[in-house]
Amino acid sequence: MGAKFLLVVGARPNFMKAAPLLKALQKYNHIVEPILLHTGQHYDYTMSKAFFDDLDLPEPDIYLGVGSDTHARQTAKIMMGIEDVLMHQKTDLVIVFGDVNSTLACALSAAKYRCLRKVYHPLIAHIEAGLRSFDRTMPEEINRIVTDVLSELLFVTERSGIENLKREGIPDEKIFFVGNVMIDTLKRYIERAKSIDLHKEFGLEPKTYALLTLHRPSNVDVRERLTEIWDALSQIAREIKIVFPVHPRTRSRLNEFGLKPSEGMILLEPLSYTKFLALEMNARFVMTDSGGVQEETTVLGVPCITLRENTERPITVEVGTNVVVGNRKPQILAAARNALNDNWKKGSIPPLWDGHAAERIAEILVSWASNR
Ligand code: UD1
Ligand code: UDP
Repeated sequence: MGAKFLLVVGARPNFMKAAPLLKALQKYNHIVEPILLHTGQHYDYTMSKAFFDDLDLPEPDIYLGVGSDTHARQTAKIMMGIEDVLMHQKTDLVIVFGDVNSTLACALSAAKYRCLRKVYHPLIAHIEAGLRSFDRTMPEEINRIVTDVLSELLFVTERSGIENLKREGIPDEKIFFVGNVMIDTLKRYIERAKSIDLHKEFGLEPKTYALLTLHRPSNVDVRERLTEIWDALSQIAREIKIVFPVHPRTRSRLNEFGLKPSEGMILLEPLSYTKFLALEMNARFVMTDSGGVQEETTVLGVPCITLRENTERPITVEVGTNVVVGNRKPQILAAARNALNDNWKKGSIPPLWDGHAAERIAEILVSWASNR
């Protein structure tokens, strides 16, 4: 019988990471039986189903439907749902992606299940292990640290990840430097994105607009902070149009704080992956607090202004097009000025971000499954 791999997704950035691995595992369907579980952390069409349609993902085999809640309550609901699944089907490996609450909840639930049953399976594999912002007020940092400490197979996207894991005492044999599955998806869909020309719908030419994403609680949940960022953006929008697909968290805060788009800002619903990629590749520059967008802009060679105090993805700054400027108005305006003047580094592509990370991961997992 094939080894059962439970792949767990829940929030937007998980879908682009799981898609290439599911595809790479297809080749081994005589050895591996993948089961796709969606926690339902994200549930709006534009935050969830849109990606299944766009990225040719199969319907999830299991949907927990947990929805939104406080961190503890959401994490607990996912843990309970995963425990039930593990109770009812023998699973050899659970695979978790990135740093969202669904990632942590699944890893913790699998580890607790092993204690309960006094067994050594399922093993836990973490895709995108080892990233650290060193900011423990960031919910994702807690998720990363706990998930990594519980995982047996840690797949790393950049060298900083190896160093971070070693410093935290993770043995070498658990760490695999494989590259970046998010970039596998970018490479797979770039041709489709090129044919979309979404900017034309807004009467824009390539390189005549900036693209914005914003959803970190540290930027959007505090009135004073979001107001200052909004002020800076309004000023930038006088010089270049800003296209802004708005995350639902941010939409609520803008309404709550009474912040309205100024002239030059084009607010949209969250976009499907290929539509967003189409806008990203043609943008003059991108302003973002997203993790994944910092990586994608580096590969696309598009200037990226990161509106955060830190990044867990330092390779995008060291070799890529990313500059971390923080979330204060003077720094944001200065960075936008440089981008508008084309005063920006060119950047190069990080090692192993070549579109084949998922194949490398699949090979390692299948070799583990064959020898178990
Ligand atoms: C989550 C992740 C974050 C990731 C982001 C990707 C955690 C702790 N955070 O943040 O790392 O970068 O997803 O987009 O896991 N909402 C909707 N519809 C949805 C989903 C959310 O309206 O489909 C609204 C709800 O009001 C919800 C809020 O957005 O309370 C926040 O959602 P949540 O999943 O808790 O966190 P994100 O900010 O989306
Ligand atoms: N993205 C998208 N539509 C949007 C905004 C972002 O498809 O409207 C994609 C983006 O290209 C990247 C991923 O979502 O692949 C990043 O997810 P997000 O910013 O939500 O989370 P993070 O990476 O910060 O965890």
